[in-house]
Amino acid sequence: MDHFLYKDGQLFAEGVPVAEIAAEVGTPFYLYSLNTFLRHFRLFDEALNWGPHLVCYAMKAASNQAILSALAKEGAGMDVVSGGEYARAVAAGVPGDRIVFSGVGKTQDEIRAALTGGIRQFNVESEPEMRAISEVAVSLGIEAPIAIRVNPDVDAKTHAKIATGKSENKFGIPIARAREVYAEAAALPGLRVVGIDVHIGSQLTQLEPFEQAYKKVAELTEVLRADGHGITRLDLGGGLGIPYARSNEAPPLPADYGALIERTVGHLGCEIEIEPGRLVVGNAGILVTRVIYLKEGEGRDFLILDAAMNDLIRPAMYEAHHEIVPVIEAGVAAELKPYDIVGPVCESGDTFAKGRLMPPLVAGDLVAFRSAGAYGAVMASEYNSRPLVPEVLASGDQFAVIRARPSFDEMIKRDTIPEWL
Ligand code: LLP
Repeated sequence: MDHFLYKDGQLFAEGVPVAEIAAEVGTPFYLYSLNTFLRHFRLFDEALNWGPHLVCYAMKAASNQAILSALAKEGAGMDVVSGGEYARAVAAGVPGDRIVFSGVGKTQDEIRAALTGGIRQFNVESEPEMRAISEVAVSLGIEAPIAIRVNPDVDAKTHAKIATGKSENKFGIPIARAREVYAEAAALPGLRVVGIDVHIGSQLTQLEPFEQAYKKVAELTEVLRADGHGITRLDLGGGLGIPYARSNEAPPLPADYGALIERTVGHLGCEIEIEPGRLVVGNAGILVTRVIYLKEGEGRDFLILDAAMNDLIRPAMYEAHHEIVPVIEAGVAAELKPYDIVGPVCESGDTFAKGRLMPPLVAGDLVAFRSAGAYGAVMASEYNSRPLVPEVLASGDQFAVIRARPSFDEMIKRDTIPEWL
């Protein structure tokens, strides 16, 4: 459920007409609904209420400081994957003991910053990384809490580019080698083993792959405990999918996911961490854009928008489907027409949808991409020197720009021309 609904024929973000925001901010822009993502976060939190837990929002999905700060106030932890994300989490008021550090290539500088600033745990992805964490921890005289990410070799049944739990993926340590690696962890100075970490992929629309992975983690917990390791925490990753197309079957709910976790690992008495990103913010954000031209091509009509692949890369990168809806609803009798919906960037890949059925649209009309809150703004670039797309947050009947659109001047001024040129 989200708070982007039509009232009297026009799209609202909570209590604010989207067209009103567009008139003030200009297009394109991302627009989030505060009460939608807070609700999604709370659903995960409640789903794990059967035991000790921490929901660590995977901030790679949307990392604006306003979003982070709202979640921090709710008691959220954060899953970070870079020094930049760690700094953002701290700046948003998240205490170090609620931050877990994931990611396949943590640098010594990043490890040092997190140890000094405070960290709940590092999710270790490889033996060389584990040795680096040990070295930095010893040099600082700070013990580093670690969980080792195991790769359970299960098929997440999602898009190949976002599946991470098969043995051919670069993530984690093969589960078959876990005992060996935990033995090395126990022997290395400066490390304190606290748990096991697993994350099998993103946009999972079924529970079975989670079930397979978590059963393997439960077995491993018993084995590692018998080996003498203090496994008190299980980080079960993120990945629960969202319905991108309204016609699709809805993916499982956080409550079912929480029950699955209880069923598979609840008996172990571990503190549970999960790292949802997409489900928290995905349907809490839309990308609002305007039709620049309607171009009649041969056998097809193109809707040329002022948003492009640099603003929302998902369709070009993953063939992702996003619902595209008019901000002002057409009359009931309006007949749907097929459009190729494209951006102005000079690449054929800058195509959002082909032959998409839409009510008739003309230049100047506003449309919105739904389900754009996750992996939208964060993956935007300035390709074609299009200034980074701004972000707006709506709550009740108010809204605020939470990242302003840079001017051309600001964009240009970031570059330096060397004196010797
Ligand atoms: N934890 C780890 C270690 C991850 O790598 C990810 C996502 C998450 C948690 C959060 O997963 P989520 O709950 O959001 O599915 N750019 C792609 C998605 C990449 C996901 C990367 N890792 C997209 O636009 O679909």
